[in-house]
Amino acid sequence: MKIAVLPGDGIGTEIVAEAIKVLEVLDLPFEMESALVGGTAFDAHGHPLPEATLKLAKEADAVLFGAVGDWKYDKLERQFRPEQAILGLRKNLGLFANFRPAICYEQLVSASSLKPELVSGLDILIIRELTGDIYFGQPRGRRIAVDGHFPGAEEAFDTMRYSRPEIERIAHVAFQAARKRNKRVTSVDKNNVLETSQLWKDVMVEIGTQYPDVALDHMLVDNAAMQLVKAPKSFDVIVTGNMFGDILSDEASMLTGSIGMLPSASLNAQNQGLYEPSHGSAPDIAGKGVANPLATILSAAMMLRFSLQQADAADRIESAVQSVLAAGLRTPDIYSAGTTKVGTQQMGDAVVAAITKTTIKG
Ligand code: IPM
Ligand code: MN
Repeated sequence: MKIAVLPGDGIGTEIVAEAIKVLEVLDLPFEMESALVGGTAFDAHGHPLPEATLKLAKEADAVLFGAVGDWKYDKLERQFRPEQAILGLRKNLGLFANFRPAICYEQLVSASSLKPELVSGLDILIIRELTGDIYFGQPRGRRIAVDGHFPGAEEAFDTMRYSRPEIERIAHVAFQAARKRNKRVTSVDKNNVLETSQLWKDVMVEIGTQYPDVALDHMLVDNAAMQLVKAPKSFDVIVTGNMFGDILSDEASMLTGSIGMLPSASLNAQNQGLYEPSHGSAPDIAGKGVANPLATILSAAMMLRFSLQQADAADRIESAVQSVLAAGLRTPDIYSAGTTKVGTQQMGDAVVAAITKTTIKG
């Protein structure tokens, strides 16, 4: 089992180090190799996604990714910015299916920005299409306008595009995921305005007929944004395009109390995957030893389950995380009165200790 480890920028190195500790204590035959990605790769090699890093990722069974980005790269030309690394990995590995679970851990209910009764027991899964849409659609660029409201003025444009096969394959992913859950899919679009959304909805309806056991409904994205804060527990699986999924998944994550808790998986048709925390590189707290490593540790668990066929090991990590939370350990992002504040490494150590304990008992 080959794992490419790409820690990246900001808190990336600190949180990935904790996930590696956890993977190592499982005592499975992993081969892990690290490479630079993002701003750190730009500094060392002049490109956020160097050839060698891409090659390592392509040849691995799975990629464990930290985070990329730092304000200090904001003025670089777009192709050299750290974010291009993750976009390039998604595109080059064909990682079209992004799983972003938003689960509210019972111990963290009070950390949510919503009332406890709205989020207690919350367990939704956002499935975001990840290689199409306005993120990658051509043409895009800047030019002097020849028409529109201000001919002769500078303008910029991006293209929202979706093809039928792109929508079909993400639809199958969503319906199959729903079958393993509460058998409900909400497809989110903006079909009252956009052609891409009308095709999206039509294809969802068509593919849905192949899954008569799964209930399908449709919601406009503005309404979905509202329903997520009004009645988040009314959702099971949400499937949506790249742009809407980006926005809605950040919103959903915050309902759970902390984005520092949420893992994510991005898969291609071969079940090869990239696993990363749902949060970013948080340069403001980098190097301080206070970042929450649990999202990355839980991403490693998703990696074991989805790409490496090690479901038991994944379960062990997830129960270990539950038990450290139950024991009251909290990084600052999830701290509340009456709990014990710990740093990044202490949190990682506690998860390792919880796994070791179950190993000895088991
Ligand atoms: C995410 C991030 C990325 C995205 C950025 C870093 C390009 O926000 O993974 O959600 O927009 O997809
Ligand atoms: Mn995002």
